[in-house]
Amino acid sequence: MAVFASGSGSNFQAIVDAVRAGRLDVSVELLVCDRPKAKAVERAQHAGIDVLAFRPKDYGSREEYERMIVGELQRRGIDLIVLAGYMRIISATLLEPFDGRIVNIHPSLLPSFPGVDAIGQALTHGVKVTGVTVHFVDGGMDTGPIIAQRAIEIREDDTADTLAARIHAIEHELYPLVIGLIKQNRATLLEDGRTVRIQ
Ligand code: GRF
Repeated sequence: MAVFASGSGSNFQAIVDAVRAGRLDVSVELLVCDRPKAKAVERAQHAGIDVLAFRPKDYGSREEYERMIVGELQRRGIDLIVLAGYMRIISATLLEPFDGRIVNIHPSLLPSFPGVDAIGQALTHGVKVTGVTVHFVDGGMDTGPIIAQRAIEIREDDTADTLAARIHAIEHELYPLVIGLIKQNRATLLEDGRTVRIQ
């Protein structure tokens, strides 16, 4: 599989650690990153994982760099794309060849608070419960079929930092678990195109 990240890459690290610890049976072949200086790139280099770093502005369009990415993924026989803090919209160029084989993690209980700064959105709204969602990726913004969710209570004294820390801890546990289920074909999309059955 390949992991796509743009920033810190703590979820990428959690996946790599789970593989190392024997808790997750996958081969992480590649990190794709749209910011060559991101911490995620450093983490991959440290772990000895190949990096495909690119700068979108070096390409004429999204389609152009996605075509380049698809070529790299196909050359390496990648069959699962794991988005972990990849801050770019994915278009049909990438979606079509990997239909049903792209997953994302989002720091809220979708469909609440899609898009950027889901943690800030939850705090601003004053909700008492938020959480983490892992879902298949479709053409929309955080709209694809939901595979797994975990809820977490918001405390009165929570700040964006304290809440983010608890959310990240849950993400680091949940994502490797869900990736394992997908790899074992235990998370399947039903015919309604919406419900994911976990076996
Ligand atoms: C995570 O909170 C994830 O849910 C969201 O982006 C963040 C990435 O964090 N999509 P990191 O780069 O894995 O530390």
